[in-house]
Amino acid sequence: MLTVAHKPVLLKETIEALAIQPGGRNIDCTLGGGGHAAAILEQSAPGGQLLGIDADPEAIRFATARLSKYQNSVLLVNDNFGNLGDICQRYSFSPVHGILLDLGLSSNQLDDDPRGFSFQRDAELDMRFNPAQETTAAEIINTASETELALILREYGEERFNQRIARRIVQERPINTTLQLAHVVEDALGGRHGKIHPATRTFQALRIAVNRELEMLEIVLSQATDVLGIGGRLVVISYHSLEDRIVKHFMQKEAKDCICPPNVLVCHCGHSAGLRIVNKKVIVPSEEELKDNPRSRSAKMRVAEKIAPRQQSDKVTYSHFSKN
Ligand SMILES: C[S@@+](CC[C@H](N)C(=O)[O-])C[C@H]1O[C@@H](n2cnc3c(N)ncnc32)[C@H](O)[C@@H]1O
Repeated sequence: MLTVAHKPVLLKETIEALAIQPGGRNIDCTLGGGGHAAAILEQSAPGGQLLGIDADPEAIRFATARLSKYQNSVLLVNDNFGNLGDICQRYSFSPVHGILLDLGLSSNQLDDDPRGFSFQRDAELDMRFNPAQETTAAEIINTASETELALILREYGEERFNQRIARRIVQERPINTTLQLAHVVEDALGGRHGKIHPATRTFQALRIAVNRELEMLEIVLSQATDVLGIGGRLVVISYHSLEDRIVKHFMQKEAKDCICPPNVLVCHCGHSAGLRIVNKKVIVPSEEELKDNPRSRSAKMRVAEKIAPRQQSDKVTYSHFSKN
């Protein structure tokens, strides 16, 4: 049975930010439960078209059923949004009016026990958005060196006690389930202190490493900017500071004419602004939304509009730890 667990976050704000017009062509890079996609299709009728992408085949199955009444206006693709440029080329789907990235994972995935995203219930340590991908969380936990583990925890979880946790993980290996890992982390930190579970940052870090989330985000931001038509909107909803920092820096840089270092007297970068930042302050959920959907509490939305073709292609600067 089709049951919708995931409530789309900042839905009204997203539709406003995308400035959707009837007949518009939009891309939802993170289809999930199809909540944003359904609203985009509604607003862009008649004549609107939507390309929906998700790395998770389960999300594609779910959204295919949910969006069946729009089937002539929708193209759903099971792929990584890091391949956005190729996907758009393959399906001749560019330029577009709007692109949405609603990052991270959906409630459907979080509540799906066998996926191993949550430490609330026991499951194998998996955490892959795409089950066809090779590297799982268990593989990283059981094969990475202590130094690599500490780095993953520090960089992707902003975990202060990264070395202590990494040392304990290496001592306790093999660790194959979510509860086993949660207990190892709890032990390493001397039990629970405060409201947040001590394994929260470790689980976030692992999920980011397994799915190469920050690297994919850097890649898709550049590609999305290329795929947008002039006047098109890029809307990104992120859920932790690492993602938001990448989005903020990307938009700020692309909105500048010169990106030479501050001590350079004569500009030699050849860069010119391709984006205009639409909201100077990040958009966050209203009190009402927070009450209705506490899982929206960390959401931050940033919006930019394309004003000119991009001048430079960026190099990806993030190191990554998984093989896929
Ligand atoms: C927060 S959910 C999106 C929820 C959706 N906006 C809705 O209204 O139901 C994020 C989705 O993005 C997908 N995702 C995350 N990273 C991805 C990537 N690199 N490529 C493709 N899909 C990705 C996840 O599988 C998940 O289904």
